[in-house]
Amino acid sequence: MPPFTHHIFICTNQRDSGHRRGCCDPEGDESLRSAFKTEVRKRNLQPLVRANKAGCLDQCEHGPTVVIYPQGIFYGNVGLQDVSRIIEETVIEGKILDDLRISDSCLNSRQCEHFLPRDQIDDQLDQKQ
Ligand code: FES
Repeated sequence: MPPFTHHIFICTNQRDSGHRRGCCDPEGDESLRSAFKTEVRKRNLQPLVRANKAGCLDQCEHGPTVVIYPQGIFYGNVGLQDVSRIIEETVIEGKILDDLRISDSCLNSRQCEHFLPRDQIDDQLDQKQ
């Protein structure tokens, strides 16, 4: 079998509310992961595209985080409404979504220009819905 063209890892890590780093799945319902799985299935992209849950990807300060391999694209602050766009534009068309991308200079950094306190991340996600 050929390798995956896109292996999408969706952080479903949970932490107690009020944790200084927040977490990507505060509701604990894996809704983001489920949405990716549904979208992949809907578009008949399996088995070459796969969506798996992941533990903490250590980018917590960037909001709900997804990484796509082998491309190594990290997206942060990902909401349910972003899922079909990621599948359509990144997975199918090969485009990087600049509004979601965590740049290389921001990866593994809590000092980057995009860092937001957890309450502001939650506000941004609320506004997207
Ligand atoms: S909890 Fe998701 S990246 Fe850390």
